[in-house]
Amino acid sequence: APSPPDPTALLAWYDRHRRHLPWRAAPGTRQDPYRVFLSEIMLQQTTVVTVRPYYEAFLRRWPDVTALARAPLEEVLSAWAGLGYYARARNLHACARAVTERHGGHFPEGEAELLALPGIGPYTAAAIAAIAFERRAAPVDGNWERVLARLFAVEEALPKARAQFRGLALTLLPPARYGDFAQALMDLGATLCTPRKPACALCPWERACAARAEDNPERYPLKAAK
Ligand code: ADE
Repeated sequence: APSPPDPTALLAWYDRHRRHLPWRAAPGTRQDPYRVFLSEIMLQQTTVVTVRPYYEAFLRRWPDVTALARAPLEEVLSAWAGLGYYARARNLHACARAVTERHGGHFPEGEAELLALPGIGPYTAAAIAAIAFERRAAPVDGNWERVLARLFAVEEALPKARAQFRGLALTLLPPARYGDFAQALMDLGATLCTPRKPACALCPWERACAARAEDNPERYPLKAAK
C-alpha cells in the first residue's frame, strides 16, 4: 500500500514551485484579508488568467474594505462587467458593508464568524481563515477534490463524495502554514494533478497516491452515472 501523504513534502514542493500571483504576499509576510477576500470571490467561477487584471483594477480603485463599502453598487457592478456571475459582485459589496458596519472594517478571523457574513460560504470562509489568518482550515475547491480523490482512491462519486473529502482534507493538514498548504493544494491540482494527463512523475506525493499505484489517476474523481 502507498505510504501516507506527508504534508511537509507538499510544502517543500510549494516553496520551489508556487505560482506568483498578485494576491499572494511574499513568503513570510502578512496577507491582507481584504486582498484574500477579493481574490477568492473573483476566483470562484473564473480562471486565474481572467481574474488577474480585474483584481489589479479593483485594488487600485478600492484599496481597502471601507473604500469598497463606500462605493455605489452601480460602480462596483460596472467594474465587474466581463467577469460574469454578477451575484458575486453584489455579495462582494454587501460583505464589504457588513465588515465595515459590524466589524469596524476588520475581517473576523474565525471560520464561523466569516461564514455569518453575506456572500461568504464554507469555501470562502475557510480560504480567508487559512490564508489571511493562519487558522487551521481546509478550503476544499475543485482542485483539492481531484487531488484527494486520487490520493485516497475515493470510490464514491461526486457530488456525494464531498462529505468524505472534507474529512480527508482535515487529516492531511500540516501542524502549521495552513495558508501555504491551502494554496499548495490549489497549485498541485492546477499544474500537476490536472484532470487529463497528470504529471505524476513530478508530484511530491507520487508514492503516497493510491490512484497512481493503480496506474489510473484519470479515473478519479468518479462521476455519478447520469
Ligand atoms: N483559486 C482559488 N483561490 C486561489 C488562490 N488563492 N490561488 C490560486 N488559485 C486559486
